[in-house]
Amino acid sequence: MKTLTLTRPDDWHVHVRNGAVLKAVLAYTARQFARAVVMPNLKPPVTTVAQALAYREEILRVLPEGVDFTPLMTLYLTAATAVEELKAAADCPFVHAVKLYPAGATTNSDAGVANIWAIYPLLAVLEKYRLPLLVHGEVTDDDCDIFDRERWFIDRHFTDIVRNFPALRLVLEHVTTKEAVHFVAAAGVNVAATITPQHLLYNRNALLAGGIRPHHYCLPILKREEHRQALLAAATSGSAKFFLGTDSAPHVTESKESACGCAGCFSAPLALELYAEAFEQAGALDKLEGFASFYGADFYGLPRNAGTVSLRQQSWLVPEAYGADAVSVTPLKAGGMVGWKMC
Ligand code: DOR
Ligand code: ZN
Repeated sequence: MKTLTLTRPDDWHVHVRNGAVLKAVLAYTARQFARAVVMPNLKPPVTTVAQALAYREEILRVLPEGVDFTPLMTLYLTAATAVEELKAAADCPFVHAVKLYPAGATTNSDAGVANIWAIYPLLAVLEKYRLPLLVHGEVTDDDCDIFDRERWFIDRHFTDIVRNFPALRLVLEHVTTKEAVHFVAAAGVNVAATITPQHLLYNRNALLAGGIRPHHYCLPILKREEHRQALLAAATSGSAKFFLGTDSAPHVTESKESACGCAGCFSAPLALELYAEAFEQAGALDKLEGFASFYGADFYGLPRNAGTVSLRQQSWLVPEAYGADAVSVTPLKAGGMVGWKMC
């Protein structure tokens, strides 16, 4: 039986929520990853260092005893973010990045940025303090087709941000298109991207062909096969610009299986296994360790982890739901088989 052993990996983009959902999902991320960059799109959003520290405390309280896991906190950028707050974030050892949500782009993004040009003075502050900006790269214009939102964002905003702030450390989060991959590959070393398991494994047919599959609905939305192929090529290329970010985004099953379902794929319980499947499909299992365990840490200027995790090549049935108490969340690939298992 084939076994794959990797340096302990990190998740550079995850949603663990708070309250009862946090209690139900945190252990899955903490089991697979040594560290994770925790997204700040709570209700209300985590906009200050004080809120980020309180959120961190909540996470640590919920963490199962004896589990070695470090949450890396982020701030939610708004038009009203104070320069002093960004300076405090840069000085805080627990805050590692600031997240830019275009207003209305996704879950809990109402408080996000409506006019990206208006926050350029704040980007200059981030550049100065070397605090990474994590970007949800989609325009929200009504006249933009949902499948073109990332491409338009690159043309309209990201190119301009990169040009205006040449030393700003940028992560284009959860890239989904060949345009994003090509842009990031051609940019300087200060520009990187995360890639999710769902965008490596599925194209938009998985969302819509043969019936609507709400558990494959996330934002940015799944794209055509040619885009998936470009993402797979980037992730398995050995380029340090592309690293693991699951974007695991739990919503309780009822709010996914609804007339207006929430965006987000819950992949935390089997994320590493899904990445292994994708890399195996590309004949590039030897490239998984760099993507999962090295390049993100290097980009963030953090040490690579000590210790290892192992995956065994073994088929197993993904449960229909994970959860605790009254919270039940349907995972990606629920009821399907996965060919690798963490051991
Ligand atoms: O599908 C998504 N879900 N995309 C995001 O950008 C946010 C996330 C969430 O928080 O549910
Ligand atoms: Zn996300």
